Amino acid sequence: MIEVENVTVRFGGVTSLDDVSISFPGGTCGLIGPNGAGKTTFFNVLSGYVTPMSGSVMADGTQLIGMPAFKRARWGVRRTFQTEQAIESLTVFENVLTVHEHTTTAPRAEAKAAVDDVLEFVGLSHVRNDLVRTLPAKERRFIEMARAVVGEPKLVLLDEPAAGLPDEETEELSAIIRSIPDRNNATVVLVDHDMALVQACCSWSAVLDFGRLLASGETGDVLRDERVLMAYLGTDA
Ligand SMILES: Nc1ncnc2c1ncn2[C@@H]1O[C@H](COP(=O)(O)OP(=O)(O)O)[C@@H](O)[C@H]1O
Ligand SMILES: [Mg+2]
Repeated sequence: MIEVENVTVRFGGVTSLDDVSISFPGGTCGLIGPNGAGKTTFFNVLSGYVTPMSGSVMADGTQLIGMPAFKRARWGVRRTFQTEQAIESLTVFENVLTVHEHTTTAPRAEAKAAVDDVLEFVGLSHVRNDLVRTLPAKERRFIEMARAVVGEPKLVLLDEPAAGLPDEETEELSAIIRSIPDRNNATVVLVDHDMALVQACCSWSAVLDFGRLLASGETGDVLRDERVLMAYLGTDA
């Protein structure tokens, strides 16, 4: 259970998050909203890249605000970014191992097993020893997923993981995302503009608009909500 309470973030005159409170029930949860709504800022607050002016983030009973980003990663907060983070000159295996080494103190043999296990999970075992720079877009994207779930994550934040992927590959990604909660006993928060993907993965979703929580609840209901439709159509913006 991830309970975010009264989080406010300001950058100069811009209020990116305005007194946002969201309780994520667990499993895979959606976080949607138009561009500039504050979704990435919200992830930055959860992962420790941005310190809010005020607010609390309780994750399974642990207060994350005030904990440095590297400690949150050790605790089990993982994320993907809208830009790829994998290092081009390393192999797929090495890229995922790097994350594992930063997030645990597990012995080498255990780390190797965990990396091989996650590569199998995301379907990248066949390119395990390939350099990232030699790989096509789909494989690169799935490396980002492997980096986000290797080891023992407790909270996995996925920032537009399907952006630009063709339908077939989005389907594959969808199956992976849906199996993370069971595999890792982790809560997943999925930010994406692909509503079919959000509906397929998330039984519960929250909507941000202009830094405020607009609606939350069962995904189908949220997507039918009048205020949510207005926000997406931009009628009133
Ligand atoms: N580091 C920053 N400095 C200044 N403004 C920022 C910063 N990060 C985000 N913002 C602003 O906060 C608002 C929300 O941005 P963001 O969280 O990236 O939205 P989303 O991910 O929903 O598209 C935007 O107006 C954006 O310009
Ligand atoms: Mg964003």
